[in-house]
Amino acid sequence: MTAASAVASQQDPFILRVENLTKRYGPVLALNDVSLGIRRGTIHGLLGENGAGKSTLVSLISGQRTPTSGTIFLDGRAIASVDIKAMEEAGVFLVTQEPMIVDHLTAAENLMLGIWPSSGGFVRWSKLRADAARMLEGTGIDPQAMAGRLDAVARRKLNILRAMFSGGKIIILDEPTAALTVEDRAQLFSFMRDLKAQGVTFIFISHYNDEILEICDACSVLRDGVLAGGTENVKGLTSEQLSELVLGRGLVLFQRERRQFDTEPAAVSLRSVVSAGVRVEALDLHAGEIVGFTGLPGAGAKELVRAVFGLVPVRSGTIAFADEAPHKLPASPRDAFDAGIAFLSDDRHRDGLVKHMTISENISLSSLVSLARSGFLSNDAERNLSDRYFEAMGIKAPGPSTTVDTLSGGNQQKVCLGRVLATKPRLLILDEPTRGIDVGVKQDVLRIIDDLSRSGVAVIIVSTDTDEIVRSVDRVCIFDGGAVREELSGAAITNERLRQGTTSHG
Ligand SMILES: Nc1ncnc2c1ncn2[C@@H]1O[C@H](COP(=O)(O)OP(=O)(O)OP(=O)(O)O)[C@@H](O)[C@H]1O
Ligand SMILES: [Mg+2]
Repeated sequence: MTAASAVASQQDPFILRVENLTKRYGPVLALNDVSLGIRRGTIHGLLGENGAGKSTLVSLISGQRTPTSGTIFLDGRAIASVDIKAMEEAGVFLVTQEPMIVDHLTAAENLMLGIWPSSGGFVRWSKLRADAARMLEGTGIDPQAMAGRLDAVARRKLNILRAMFSGGKIIILDEPTAALTVEDRAQLFSFMRDLKAQGVTFIFISHYNDEILEICDACSVLRDGVLAGGTENVKGLTSEQLSELVLGRGLVLFQRERRQFDTEPAAVSLRSVVSAGVRVEALDLHAGEIVGFTGLPGAGAKELVRAVFGLVPVRSGTIAFADEAPHKLPASPRDAFDAGIAFLSDDRHRDGLVKHMTISENISLSSLVSLARSGFLSNDAERNLSDRYFEAMGIKAPGPSTTVDTLSGGNQQKVCLGRVLATKPRLLILDEPTRGIDVGVKQDVLRIIDDLSRSGVAVIIVSTDTDEIVRSVDRVCIFDGGAVREELSGAAITNERLRQGTTSHG
């Protein structure tokens, strides 16, 4: 450190400051004249609705993208040319919203990528390394597994771990907790607190109020690209106040009126399903019923729905719709789709969107088959369908003909969801349907699923978000060891019970 910068860092309480930062993508003003400061050694929340400009702001700070105008200061010094290399050398490290993983390297090798010696020497490396090894053990991630084979959750964890061990002075986490379990989250937070105690500064993006309230010291709120507010004391707020700060209005939480279906005939019956990690004797779903599937990773919830949708080979198992005769479980997603099963994957990058196509085309992609079959395939039909879902999902974009690669993360997720809902299935399976979706739109999505259930479709929601389950389902199946260990319905579905049911025992 030079004498000049030592003086500068003593004078500026902000380790990072941006002044009049603006980013334009053609006609879209993603960030508009934003000025804010991040205090040294704090965890600073960055909040805002989908498309507000959060990812854009951190992409500028980390040098992934170039600002249209404005200045970034580190330790009180203006950075002349901001690029990834310069910012990494200065100790700024970004974990992006979508996992960045090198598929042909092992999990352990991915973990070591981008690790460089810390400049100040204030991070205790030996302890961190030991923690890293221990944490990888606890995650069920095989250090020698090829990263390309890992599921979405494992890939996300690897990314986060890599940031934790990067030696960065400023670590930016863009929605790191989406899809993490309660325990993973607790581990991440304790990691963040350890590093914070050693002087590391964090910028933390999340749509979950409880996380912001638990981990953040200060926060800034973006709305339509403009700095709309913030506080130096997050802990002084209630969850309601936080939502109001983000939305600029009060938030009415959705709550489904739970129904009992036990006396009604089954609409979907699964029998003797055996596949990797799953052994389910019998499970019935009813027309209009919404059932939550939850449990720890590997407990069987995700594994069962992937087997039902034909994504993984099954050893045995049948599915029967209402009065129809039982059939073998679908051998492929195509078969499943033909049988009337729709599936929203938890990983929109792997089997999700066609990035260079428009919102409209993406929404109607799956439905085209059924539209064509019913003889109605026309541009009008496609447009009506996608316009309806474009509106209903509140997708933030210039219009339905915008290509999806220019959308914010949460808005891409809405397109995926719109596409699945538009297929009018008999069995609708949604894996983490509101991940990455902001608090306001989340209520709309839960309402749309609720409405849809009234048309008689049976719905499965796979989720690790206990709050989402409590507010949206009639019944919950808690998985353990590949089978349903416990079922809850009616008033028994509470956050406390679900948390108990989804933490490991002993
Ligand atoms: N490459 C691009 N081309 C055009 N517009 C873009 C591009 N990238 C982002 N945008 C637009 O910039 C705005 C801000 O997007 P950004 O990704 O920063 O939002 P966000 O706050 O991170 O939202 P989310 O919570 O959904 O992740 C959005 O309107 C988005 O559509
Ligand atoms: Mg984003």
